[in-house]
Amino acid sequence: MTNAKLRTFSGIQPTGQLHLGNYLGAIRNWVQTQAKYDNYFCVVDLHAITAPHDPAELRAATRAVAALYLACGVDLDYATVFVQSHVPAHSQLAWLLMTQTPLNWLESMTQYKEKSLRQGENVGAGLLNYPALMAADILLYQPHGVPVGADQKEHIEVTRDLARRFNDRYGPTFRLPEPWIQPEGARVMSLTDGTKKMSKSDPSDLSRISLLDTPKEIEKKIKRAKTDPQLGLSLDLDRPESTNLLTIYALLTHQEPSQVAAEFATSGYGPFKARLSEAAINFLAPMQTRYRELTQEVGYLETVLKTGAERARVVAHQTLTIASHNLGLLPPT
Ligand code: AMP
Ligand code: TRP
Repeated sequence: MTNAKLRTFSGIQPTGQLHLGNYLGAIRNWVQTQAKYDNYFCVVDLHAITAPHDPAELRAATRAVAALYLACGVDLDYATVFVQSHVPAHSQLAWLLMTQTPLNWLESMTQYKEKSLRQGENVGAGLLNYPALMAADILLYQPHGVPVGADQKEHIEVTRDLARRFNDRYGPTFRLPEPWIQPEGARVMSLTDGTKKMSKSDPSDLSRISLLDTPKEIEKKIKRAKTDPQLGLSLDLDRPESTNLLTIYALLTHQEPSQVAAEFATSGYGPFKARLSEAAINFLAPMQTRYRELTQEVGYLETVLKTGAERARVVAHQTLTIASHNLGLLPPT
């Protein structure tokens, strides 16, 4: 009999500043259930280099994302926090999987289609192969669940397809992971357009609330957030901005969206936005204090990431060894 916990794996790219969408769609769910699971939370820097980037900014963002995981409540008693490139098995398994991936699976991915349109002539092969690297990230840890926002569902389906195909051809190697997507917060929308998701890559800073925004910035962004001319707020498919702002408010104040909708059913946007600003500022303040504390402590983050990578390497190496063996690669002597 074993009482081992189920395992989870998830990751965020260190590109730009993390925002409320990343928190509500992903990190919040990691933290809420972390005590029940054996968690691996990774800063996926190898994914971040699939788009044009600045090396110094990437290094800074990698540290910042790791620190934000901890500041948001990821607990090292329950989670292994590490940087993807510190565990070489991610790149190694990615290559093995790429050789097994049909090109048309990669070409049909929404994220690839959208980003390659944006990058035009500069589309690197890494952007196309991104899902094979993501599959490697996940499969190395043999997790049961992958807690993510709704936009990642497609990538987790490909991960499952690849794992199934590999197991069928070469024998049992990988566990098929489930996407764990919470109904609320899975798709936080932009503040400037309620039909687009809040994103790190949106050129307008007004479109998102970053986790490290100052109270002044938060107030300004919420004041300018897009609204509609109707009096009173409601949860309504035809009113994406109203629905999005109400949902954010509900999640930040730990209430049901329907309860919040009832409270603001006859309120104008002005008073509602004042309440939303206050809620966002109060919600983010303690997290920002923790972030400052732990980034100021010399050597702390380095130690966390060193220990994390050591632990991750052990697990990742086991899976890589099995996958290599099953594929027929001669083991080193
Ligand atoms: P990324 O920013 O693309 O690295 O995404 C990191 C995590 O945050 C993934 O689990 C995403 O699904 C989640 N995420 C990103 N943007 C949003 C959003 N607007 N709403 C909800 N979840 C999101
Ligand atoms: N592709 C994910 C995103 O853009 C980031 C990611 C990379 C990831 N590897 C992962 C998420 C493994 C979960 C599990 O959000």
